[in-house]
Amino acid sequence: RAEYQAKSMALSDAMTRACDFYKLQLRTAERAKEYLIGRGLTGEIAGRFGIGYAPDGWDSLRTVFPDYDATALVEAGLVIDRTDEEGANRKRYDRFRDRIMFPIRNTKGQVIGFGGRILDSGEPKYLNSPETPLFQKGSELYGLFEARQAIRDAGYVLVTEGYMDVVALAQLGFPQVVATLGTACTAIHVQKLARQTDHVIFSFDGDGAGRRAARRALEASLPYAADNKTIKFLFLPSEHDPDSYVREHGTAGFEQQVQDAMPLSQFLLKIVTDENDLATPEGRAKVQFEAKPLLQAMQASSLRLQIVRGLAQLTQTTPTEIETLFELASPAAR
Ligand code: GTP
Ligand code: MN
Ligand code: MN
Ligand code: MN
Ligand code: MN
Repeated sequence: RAEYQAKSMALSDAMTRACDFYKLQLRTAERAKEYLIGRGLTGEIAGRFGIGYAPDGWDSLRTVFPDYDATALVEAGLVIDRTDEEGANRKRYDRFRDRIMFPIRNTKGQVIGFGGRILDSGEPKYLNSPETPLFQKGSELYGLFEARQAIRDAGYVLVTEGYMDVVALAQLGFPQVVATLGTACTAIHVQKLARQTDHVIFSFDGDGAGRRAARRALEASLPYAADNKTIKFLFLPSEHDPDSYVREHGTAGFEQQVQDAMPLSQFLLKIVTDENDLATPEGRAKVQFEAKPLLQAMQASSLRLQIVRGLAQLTQTTPTEIETLFELASPAAR
């Protein structure tokens, strides 16, 4: 345990020093600054999120870490090691080169990883830190540390897909915003958010990937849906993500989208009815077939009962019949 603690301190220390270095580099990197300005960022917002720039060199971090050969740098994912098995042909180089750097913090505020965006249209567009003892992608949310007070003040949190969505929304009046790190929204994410607020609004890209992400977020949320919680889904036009939308339509435009967000109950019923014909018995049976696992994932609650009632009406059955068919034990029977 002591060894583990010493190790994570070394990792954390390396991440902090790298973060400071990247921030400093941005000050004199004209191309990187132009890129950020071109995307509408102010210096103030870049400062708030600690955005930096990794220079275009193979071993720029050598200036920060005189001991460039230290294993901690490899373990932190800052340096890649291509040394062969005999230990000859030592080749080490910086993972992040010529990229805009977004530091990812844990809830204590420690830098635990980075997302690095390319300045042009090369691949990969984003490069993330690898998983380390400090950094597990499926459980971290970009921006959560920066957003915590704003989430309390606003009474809700916006969950987006991307770094730029977080930064743009925060800059334009919605600092209560976080992003999943290019992964699907997991149960761990939802649990983490539920600890901060009782009102979550998923706000993914308007494209097909964003819609699929919303569907997965619904599934991840169902076990946590409860009568005192509000979970909503905001659907943008297909050509937009939150960043492009708020920059084109302004704070008021995005606020309208927040107002119009679809409650979980409605989204669930929409998903199950969308591609089925409610006018035929077969179609109505298919709707119930698709609704069954979703309702089974929910805790018994008034909210679940309300959805069951909505489903009963749409499918010409009674709530009791649905509860029996779906084996939804009533709270009293538990
Ligand atoms: P911008 O083009 O900078 O506005 O980024 P975006 O966030 O709109 O990108 P997109 O909608 O394509 O992707 C959403 C999120 O998925 C990004 O913010 C990243 O976290 C992640 N992502 C996108 N492209 C890549 C990639 O090439 N590699 C990895 N690892 N993640 C990516
Ligand atoms: Mn996208
Ligand atoms: Mn996007
Ligand atoms: Mn974008
Ligand atoms: Mn538009």
